[in-house]
Amino acid sequence: MAWEWDAAAYGRLRLPHELWGQRTLARLALTGSETVLDAGCGTGRDTAALLEALPRGRVIAVDASASMLDQLRARLPDTERLTILAADLLDPLPIAGPVDAVLSVAVLHWIADHQRVFDNLAAILRPGGRLSVDCGGHGNIASVQAALAAVLGEVPQVWNFAAPAETERRLAAAGFVDIEARLRAETAQFDGPAALHDYLETVVLGAHLVRLGADERAAFVRAVAERLPRPAIDYVRLEVHARRAA
Ligand SMILES: C[S@@+](CC[C@H](N)C(=O)[O-])C[C@H]1O[C@@H](n2cnc3c(N)ncnc32)[C@H](O)[C@@H]1O
Repeated sequence: MAWEWDAAAYGRLRLPHELWGQRTLARLALTGSETVLDAGCGTGRDTAALLEALPRGRVIAVDASASMLDQLRARLPDTERLTILAADLLDPLPIAGPVDAVLSVAVLHWIADHQRVFDNLAAILRPGGRLSVDCGGHGNIASVQAALAAVLGEVPQVWNFAAPAETERRLAAAGFVDIEARLRAETAQFDGPAALHDYLETVVLGAHLVRLGADERAAFVRAVAERLPRPAIDYVRLEVHARRAA
């Protein structure tokens, strides 16, 4: 990854990710004894929910960010039911034995090469194993993109907001079947300018802020926030469900 998350700040925020995670997990319809990979687990909110949903199962939590994994370790005790791995989803995953399912929430839009990720996930899923993904999709955060373009003088290229059709093609090429990919437009509201500022700084604009000096960052976030029509972010989620071919 080109930059590191402020995982402590991320863990303190009220995140729309919570709802996205609940939906993505519900789609797996777990029975309680599966082994599930949380791909891009962050600070472990959904890892904890998975452990609860899997009283007889196991969770493997993978992320490329050391600071995110530190927060996860502080939150969840290491048990025989939880394996925490620092790994890049762009590389073949260092996991012994197939998993029954993969969950991934708010991760893939940070990764340029979705085909490589889907190939790597297919390689560790058992035949018939399920994939449930949420990420930013085509048209995501259009007002933030417009504000950034106005501030920077160019359209930012840090995200990969894929469309359903290309995603379905990539999943089929990776060996998935029963593929469903759809967009869901959903605006996240914030309680006022301070909450919006904190959220933009920690979650949305991190890849931009890393290029700036510490003294320039607050002004940059303010410049973007001022150009948004209201204290809200116009999310378009890409929701994906598929099954590894038997
Ligand atoms: C917005 S956070 C989402 C974290 C968590 N899933 C959640 O919903 O709160 C995005 C996460 O994706 C991880 N990530 C981004 N690119 C990655 C990659 N190539 N391999 C592994 N993790 C990656 C980041 O480190 C970060 O923890």
